[in-house]
Amino acid sequence: MILAPLRGVTIRCFRETFAEAIREAGFDEAVTPFVSANPGVDPMRDRELKGGPSGALRVTPQFIGKDPDALRRCLERVKEAGYATADLNCGCPFPMVRRKGRGSGILRTPDVLDRMLAVGCEVMGPGRFSMKARLGIDCGDELLRLMPIVNSHPLRFLAVHARTARQMYEGACDWDAVARIEDASDVPVVRNGDLPLSAKDGMVGRAFIRAIGERADVGALLDRYIESSMAELCGERPVIGRLKELISYWRDIPRWRRLWPVVKMARSVAELRVW
Ligand SMILES: Cc1cc2nc3c(=O)[nH]c(=O)nc-3n(C[C@H](O)[C@H](O)[C@H](O)COP(=O)(O)O)c2cc1C
Repeated sequence: MILAPLRGVTIRCFRETFAEAIREAGFDEAVTPFVSANPGVDPMRDRELKGGPSGALRVTPQFIGKDPDALRRCLERVKEAGYATADLNCGCPFPMVRRKGRGSGILRTPDVLDRMLAVGCEVMGPGRFSMKARLGIDCGDELLRLMPIVNSHPLRFLAVHARTARQMYEGACDWDAVARIEDASDVPVVRNGDLPLSAKDGMVGRAFIRAIGERADVGALLDRYIESSMAELCGERPVIGRLKELISYWRDIPRWRRLWPVVKMARSVAELRVW
């Protein structure tokens, strides 16, 4: 089971603080929230990757971009730093991103997708580069139509979030569409989208985040997260923002439903500590 990338949530500091919970839940790998593969960017300066891989969990850096040469340089850097696998974001649904041909937008430029996958498999090696995609942008068969390109590269896996970009993160997942992709795929397909932790297979994000909010020791874990975030970030404001983002996933849990309005209004770490 792979921990899904949730930008701002399953970040390095989170993965380190919650390492035991991640392992107990049955994850053996995490794909990082996306890091830009833009020209001139050194990914090893990004907080997400700095210092190289650490801990028992396999960490697969995820890149977003549309420039094969820039991707090549980024992958060379992460490989040199000790990362054995990497992933291409072909799923980010935000209009600002996809209209520029990045994230899910890359599904509309098959030649660019082809070149990015070729570079990924060449630099990381066969079976060491993966892609994570949506079913399509507007329709659920756009990725399906690109399968000849996907199949022409020795990918590690194709992770499919069973929604279109248009759906963002809501609405029903279309598992029939995923089944059609599985039928057409020569590479292993990793299912993603609203999977419960009990699936023990596939890529799971929000169900794990919610499960943390239900743990008896959640207060102690949050205290540690505050502590490591304070050591990493500058001042209380970004720490409060980070914690609010995490706790916002717990609004529907009875205990947190009561605490959330207080958390939301907190202006200092002291005010935030309601647990
Ligand atoms: C806040 C947030 C940030 C996300 N960031 C990323 C990201 O950086 N890269 C990516 O491929 N997917 C990203 N996703 C999508 C998730 O990885 C996953 O595909 C989606 O949440 C569905 O899986 P789930 O229902 O198990 O959470 C993000 C989703 C959310 C809600």
